[in-house]
Amino acid sequence: MAQLWGGRFTKETDQLVYNFNASISFDQKFYQEDITGSMAHVKMLTKQGILTEEEGKQIAQGLHGILDDVKAGRLEISNAYEDIHSFVEATLIDRIGDVGKKLHTGRSRNDQVALDMRMYTRKQVQETDELLKSLLETILGIMKENLDTIMPGFTHLQKAQPITLAHHMGAYFEMFRRDRSRMHDIYERMNYCPLGSGALAGTTYPLDREYTAELLDFYGPTLNSMDGVSDRDYLIEFLNALSIVMMHLSRFSEEIIIWNSNEYQFVEIDDAYSTGSSIMPQKKNPDIAELVRGKTGRVYGALMSLLTTMKGIPLAYNKDMQEDKELSFDAMDSAKGCIALFDGMLKTLTFCKDNMRKSANNGFTNATDAADYLVKHGVAFRDAHGIVGRLVLYCIEKNCAIDDLSMEELKQISPVFENDIYDAISMETCVNTRLTIGAPSRTAMEQVIAKYEDYLK
Ligand code: ARG
Repeated sequence: MAQLWGGRFTKETDQLVYNFNASISFDQKFYQEDITGSMAHVKMLTKQGILTEEEGKQIAQGLHGILDDVKAGRLEISNAYEDIHSFVEATLIDRIGDVGKKLHTGRSRNDQVALDMRMYTRKQVQETDELLKSLLETILGIMKENLDTIMPGFTHLQKAQPITLAHHMGAYFEMFRRDRSRMHDIYERMNYCPLGSGALAGTTYPLDREYTAELLDFYGPTLNSMDGVSDRDYLIEFLNALSIVMMHLSRFSEEIIIWNSNEYQFVEIDDAYSTGSSIMPQKKNPDIAELVRGKTGRVYGALMSLLTTMKGIPLAYNKDMQEDKELSFDAMDSAKGCIALFDGMLKTLTFCKDNMRKSANNGFTNATDAADYLVKHGVAFRDAHGIVGRLVLYCIEKNCAIDDLSMEELKQISPVFENDIYDAISMETCVNTRLTIGAPSRTAMEQVIAKYEDYLK
């Protein structure tokens, strides 16, 4: 047991209490941020004359040595310390002697941990954004290749109207693009430095908080020291944004699972992203998509957990806040892993275009357009709706598509139909006459794709 605060105590901490209280098993994840933060703190203390040049140099060198050694695997972070802050400080004192004891001048673990967590999260926000960008590039690639790949669009999981694969993929492009813009917003709001907030009330040392903020690539210092040590909004925002990313990935996974089913056969998942069954030799299961869908729950869990943890905490720091780490780390790793895996699965996915096309043809997806045809020829929409409804019923009995009916059969149901009906309700016409921006026609999609290309530049 190695802790920073024995002076006031007359008894040893009970081992169970010590274990319960300790965080080193998980906060060692941000050793780099912890040491980098300390380096900036020491540089500032030296500039301000709070440490001498010589002291500053010795401490900085000591910290560099620790960072290098941990990175290279020469120094193991030992669970004998309460947390990463204690480990670094004790190792420093061990290595450079008493001068190391000056590192913590004008600082508390409260502002230290607030800084570490913020820097760690900031990096995660950036990494998530990069992964999303790469996923968007994959989606855009599929879009560009499938402007004419006709498939059924669904509502209520019932075939509705024909669309194209490019259009369907475009919906996900929009979702993940919004996810990226959430990353950007979070970054903008969170990028202020809490270091120098002290335990809660700042310090009496003449710290230069602007300087440390700048050294650590923040826009500036946080403006209230109590808030500085007890704000975890940025983390809640990030977990929220990750939950939304997971919700999007989960919906997409669900569709791929459905499309990959024996009944649909719209896609084939690459062997590398499928698994077999231990008993049924014919099986090729979409496990990766299912796991992505499944992992959504734990990311939501992390968000709910932190919201709940924070809701009853009076100002300023309370130990409850140590609970901000484990589930958040898990959520960040899970979400990033899922985005990367999903991207890989999508890149190697085969689209069975013939099956998609057949499915669009056979599901009365052109019924709306048949009704619109009648409207254009003077029939009121409500009547047209009824006529085409009867047409569909007739086709179901005959087990055919509207397009398969002869002119006589069509005329029997409504004399308004003429020969140009066949062209008016072809899948290509249905798609390519939907010209408004955001609709599936090639013309509209090309405009949107140009915008997406610009955006990804
Ligand atoms: N391990 C603690 C945490 O993660 C570090 C801060 C400790 N501060 C304190 N006053 N006990 O929140």
